[in-house]
Order: sequence, then C-alpha cells, then structure tokens
Amino acid sequence: MTDTIDLPVEEAAAETPPAAAPRRKLFIKSYGCQMNAYDAQKMTDLLAPAGFDETQSLDEADLVILNTCHIRERAAEKIFSELGKVRAVKNTRRAEGRATQVVVAGCVAQAEGGEIVRRQKAVDLVVGPQNYHRLPDLLRRAEAAPVIDTEFPAEDKFDHLPRAPRSATQARGITAFVTVQEGCDKFCTFCVVPYTRGAEVSRPVEKIVAEVEALAEAGVRELTLLGQNVNAYHGEGPEGRIWSLAKLCARLAEIPGIARLRYTTSHPNDMDAELIAAHRDLPALMPYLHLPVQTGSDAILAAMNRKHDRAAYRRIIDRLRGACPDIALSSDFIVGFPGESEADFAATLDFIREITFASAFSFKYSPRPGTPGADLPDQVPEDVKIARLAALQELLDAQRQAFNAGLVGRTLAVLFEKKGRHAGQIAGRSPYLQPVQVDAPETMIGQVLPVEITGVATNSLFGRLAAEETKRL
Ligand code: 5AD
Ligand code: SF4
Repeated sequence: MTDTIDLPVEEAAAETPPAAAPRRKLFIKSYGCQMNAYDAQKMTDLLAPAGFDETQSLDEADLVILNTCHIRERAAEKIFSELGKVRAVKNTRRAEGRATQVVVAGCVAQAEGGEIVRRQKAVDLVVGPQNYHRLPDLLRRAEAAPVIDTEFPAEDKFDHLPRAPRSATQARGITAFVTVQEGCDKFCTFCVVPYTRGAEVSRPVEKIVAEVEALAEAGVRELTLLGQNVNAYHGEGPEGRIWSLAKLCARLAEIPGIARLRYTTSHPNDMDAELIAAHRDLPALMPYLHLPVQTGSDAILAAMNRKHDRAAYRRIIDRLRGACPDIALSSDFIVGFPGESEADFAATLDFIREITFASAFSFKYSPRPGTPGADLPDQVPEDVKIARLAALQELLDAQRQAFNAGLVGRTLAVLFEKKGRHAGQIAGRSPYLQPVQVDAPETMIGQVLPVEITGVATNSLFGRLAAEETKRL
C-alpha cells in the first residue's frame, strides 16, 4: 500500500497526451451535501482530459467513484452496502477480461482511510475531499496496489482543478454551485465536518470571480455559493484586503448574466450586520436563508457548543425580517442529542412555532466516532428519537404547507430552468426554491419573469405569467 504523493497533476497529465488515450467510462455517485455534488462535477471535469466520459451505468464503468458523506451513521453504512454491489460488478467484469478501478472519495474516505480497503478489498483508491485534484496520478499508482491519500495537502486543490468545458456547464443547466469556503472551526459537539473537511479556508475573490465569469458566459444565471460555514467567508480581495461574504455577493452580482445569488450553509453567529443589510440592498440575493439552529433548548444549544442561545437566534431573525420583510427561513434540526429531556424537546417545538420556517431538514442524532457528543452520558433511546422526529416533522411540514398556501395569489419572480412536466409547460424556481410549473414557450427558459401563483401541490407550485410578462425582472 503506498501513501500520499506530491506529483503535481499537470505534470502527470502531460505524460499521456489526452488525444491518444483510449476513452473509458466513469460512473460517479455523490452522497450528502451540495458541496459533495460540486466536488463530483469537478472530478468529472478533471478526469475528462485523462480519457474518461461519464456514464449512468455501473456495469459499463471502467472507473467507479463513490463520493461519500460521513455526516450521519446511515450515510456511512450505505457506502459499504453500495461497495458490495460494486464489487460484484467488478468481479463479473474481471471474468469478462475488463478491469474496473474503484475509488472511495469524500468524507467517509477522509474519516476511515485505510480501514475502507481492509473492509472492502474491491477498493483501489481512497481519496479525501482535499486531495481529489491528484486523481489522474493516484489512479495510475493504484493500478499496482491500493492507494490511500487523506493527508491535508499543502497546496490548494482549486489551483489544480481545470475549468469545466463550456459544453459541460451548459449541460448542467442555468443554476450552478460554486465552493467559496471550505472547512469549519466551530466544533459543534455532534459534527464530523471539522475533522473530515479540516479548518476553515476561504478562496480568494479573484479566483471565484474568474470561475463565475466563465459560468455566466456559458449561460449560468443563478449561483449558490457553498461553504460548510459560508457566511464566515473571509477571502483575500484583489487589493490584498479581506472581503466578507456580503462584499463577495455584491461583486458577483455585477457579473453580466448573474441574476440570482444564494449561499449555504450558515452559522447564526456569522450573520453580521453587513450580510443582513445585503438582504435589503442587493436585489440578486434571494430572500431565502438556510440558517440551522438545531434545537430550541438553551441547555442543548450549550451542550452542542453552538455558542449562541435561542434569544440570540431570535434577534438575528428579527433583524433579517426588518431588513427584508419577504425573507423566508429554512433550518436544520437534530432531535435526541444526549441529555435532551422532554422539556428540551418541547422548547424546540415552541421555538419553531415562534419563528416559523418555510422549510427544514431534521435528523435523529447520530453519535459520530471522534466527536465529543458520542462520549456524552444520557444518550437518548432510539424509540424516543423516532417519536420526537415524527412530532417535529409534523409541525415543520404544517408550517411548510402553510407557507406554500400563502403564496397563492401572489406574484413571484421565477427563473425558468427547463421544460415542464407536460407539453407546453416550462419549469422554474421561485425565490424560495420551490419548483414552479407554468404554461409558457421554451424560449423563456433562462429568463426571470413574474408569475402569479395559482395553485400548490405537495412539492411544487403552479402559476401563470403575470401581466407584465415581457418585462425581465
Ligand atoms: N447527527 C444528526 N444530524 C447531524 N447533523 C450533523 N451532524 C449530525 C449528527 N451527528 C445535521 C445538522 C447539520 C446537518 C448538515 O446535518 O443538523 O446542520
Ligand atoms: Fe457529508 Fe458534511 Fe462531508 Fe458534506 S461535508 S459530505 S454533509 S460529511
């Protein structure tokens, strides 16, 4: 088994002229968050010049990459059951004289490292989220023996990633993710991210601007800026000063073609006055904010090391609503954190009623090895977690439905993204990320247009182009 390597990717790629290499098939599957989805796109773009074309069929793949998530236990366990299937395919293909390389990337790779190869012999390469820019070279090395590369590298992977070809960006549609920040220094006691993604790092402004200019030039109209702690962004500006997320958003909004900006995921303590003001002053910034609170109990917030209490969260929401009355909120919740009593859980329900959320993600607490929460006493029994999650989701779902129903009769700006479900329809997204189906010509795809909302289904809205339909928002 070899360890990490230092050979720069460009040098390695230069050894084999891409034109001469036979084309091979890449099957890549991503789990977990949007940053993983972005990383999977980057891996695909990186492997294209090395001779790989993407396939949706596992059976025909010469290279299989599982881009994994370690956030909750179920996510990690899924990987090992998926690897069982991959191994069967690899064996079948081997019997037919075809080789298959199997890669585990992402956060399980980072957390488990060599353990993955010990548990599943079909795996050829384990590569962490900060090292995948070395993939072409690592794959060559892994032909001889399994390779593990989970060291945090000295170089910045973004400097070694190619820009997506224009055709690939166009095929991905008019919305795009851009990682602007990675890692986390907050150390919430339930969370593996500081261990799997490492310390907080912000990308320099100019590099982000260049990436976004290329996306916009290829037709992208909406950006979601990604980071595990995105609103703690503090990247170097072109003049050598540190820029905030608010300043970055204002700069990106100036890029021709960029109509909408979103950012995720944020920590309440990093919602500074400038960012709150941006929700008032920057029309491109969508009035929809994902701001995880996790729990409404002050005791559990403290045990989670969230570093704020419920009153502080409430104050931020009041200021945001003051700055942008239309803003809708989304959040993450964890039930059954160690020590969570019935009273703590009741406080969470009460807090949800007090704030009201348009949407939310909620989870049973899952003890993650190596995090402080896993060693706490008073772990909550599974049946209690299940019951609390059901009660929480019932309340959140009722709030989501009430929010959606409240939009009927209102006119919302919709960015049209693609053909709709039925002939003559096109589909887009509201400012609140809901899919909206409208009878309109395909020529309107790519535009932001006012739509009067006429109906609501479980997961989408219906509407008609509003009177001023030719006016671009
Ligand atoms: N158990 C359950 N949920 C978790 N999350 C993070 N770690 C855990 C865990 N150990 C949830 C949090 C976070 C979201 C991305 O995943 O709610 O905001
Ligand atoms: Fe999963 Fe978190 Fe890693 Fe994203 S950063 S893939 S959510 S563990």
